[in-house]
Amino acid sequence: MNAEEPILQEQAVSSRFAVPQAELDKQIEYTAMVETVLQSRFPDKKPLAFVHTYGCQGNVADGEKIKGILVSLGYDLTEEIDDADLVLYNTCAIREHAQDRVFGNVGKRKAWKEADRSRILALCGCMMQQTYVADKIKKSYPYVDLVFGTHVIHKLPEFIYRCLCTGKRVFDLSGGDGNVVEGLPIHRDGTFKAWLPIMYGCNNFCSYCVVPYVRGRERSRDFDAVVEEARRLIAAGYKEITLLGQNVNSYNKDKDASLRFPALLRAINDIEGDFWIRFMTSHPRDCTKELLDTMASCKKVAKHLHLPVQSGNDRVLQEMNRHYDREKYLSLIAYAKEKMPDLSITSDIIVGFPGETAEEFEDTLSLVKQVRFTSLFTFIFSPRPGTKAAAMSDPFDRAEKNRRFKALTDLQESIAGARTASMKGKVFRVLVEESTKDGLLSGRTEGNVIIVFPGDEALIGSFQNVEVTEPKTWILKGRLC
Ligand code: SAH
Ligand code: SF4
Ligand code: F3S
Repeated sequence: MNAEEPILQEQAVSSRFAVPQAELDKQIEYTAMVETVLQSRFPDKKPLAFVHTYGCQGNVADGEKIKGILVSLGYDLTEEIDDADLVLYNTCAIREHAQDRVFGNVGKRKAWKEADRSRILALCGCMMQQTYVADKIKKSYPYVDLVFGTHVIHKLPEFIYRCLCTGKRVFDLSGGDGNVVEGLPIHRDGTFKAWLPIMYGCNNFCSYCVVPYVRGRERSRDFDAVVEEARRLIAAGYKEITLLGQNVNSYNKDKDASLRFPALLRAINDIEGDFWIRFMTSHPRDCTKELLDTMASCKKVAKHLHLPVQSGNDRVLQEMNRHYDREKYLSLIAYAKEKMPDLSITSDIIVGFPGETAEEFEDTLSLVKQVRFTSLFTFIFSPRPGTKAAAMSDPFDRAEKNRRFKALTDLQESIAGARTASMKGKVFRVLVEESTKDGLLSGRTEGNVIIVFPGDEALIGSFQNVEVTEPKTWILKGRLC
């Protein structure tokens, strides 16, 4: 664990979402009890835990807390699943495919569990927060020991204690509107890039999306707690901090302007040090000129805006319940580009929303041509049980949706190719992230574009200037300068 991370401690939250301190104190007691049990069962070496997280960065940040708690209980973390004494999948429910992969992987754990029944197989995260999934696990996967939802991560010490000492299966999907828990232990995956959640849940109920159902109501962390965590990360040497929320622009939206998202960006930007601030996700409905002005004026805020548009057609946007239209989106983009000529813009698009016609899809293509995104995350609509869009009639078949999907990705590839070609000969500041399997270094620009170049591994985690020598569509080659 990194030195700056606290163990479970007094939390500074006073909202209606705060978990009572007595509940957290109880978990501290369980932590000590689990430690004792594990020491007696594993006298020679620590038990091993394998944790795998699916889904978005918010879920990855939860996974880091889960790992932090497991380490505080006395587990060592392992990447070798078959060696583990505890396997935990932190799941995602955003599309059916994400869920199918989890069921497949859980199926593969049966022999591992049956080889030693004292092993613990645990499932948590968004997928588990859906009753029909938890019921299916209960009935069809009897070798799964522990299932818990997104609102009770802080109760992991108690869950593990019950698994170890009662041998009974544990299911806890409680939580309702959700909560905010400060002070949980964190085992961060990175040493120079950190995820920093600033809010949880979502109130938007986009008609296709399961997130509001599995993550509860939108709630913001305390302003000072976020700034303090950023300060500690920077003091510990982190070079990139990504502020996370499903709709960061509505951070503290019921509070005074001095506590809202632009103010938070300014406060973190004011922290001494050489680092980048990133944030995601911005919802176009709540993206304001003030936010774009703030991005432009804060030197440490990376000039990258991830602004999911989902569709370029007004009727489809309305059916999606997105609360903006094409014109508003394009005017935001125009303003952003005027203020930040080098801004890199990325987006998410859903192809094949129920009833989307060929002409309506053409509007998405024309918007993509107009904006010229740096990159796109493209998805084929996946009906999520319980959402409004899942009940909408849909005359278009999968083959047609696949055709449209290809048209969109082909278009984006040609745009990205032209964009990267124009980067040739230019010098970019990158944060060096890793070495590639070809023995090169890989770094990311402020605009979130990857450049690979020869260099010493000792440079990983530092900022370097790199000249682009050979631009390809997705990866650019360069050299240090
Ligand atoms: N809060 C973010 C999105 C989080 S989910 C926002 O509103 O922008 C990430 C992306 O998954 C979404 O932007 C959307 O493009 C995609 N997505 C969500 N639900 C989906 C579904 N049912 N089918 C296909 N794609 C979906
Ligand atoms: Fe889902 Fe919409 Fe909330 Fe994003 S804003 S998480 S797409 S409901
Ligand atoms: Fe998936 Fe949950 Fe994130 S559904 S995208 S892990 S909020």
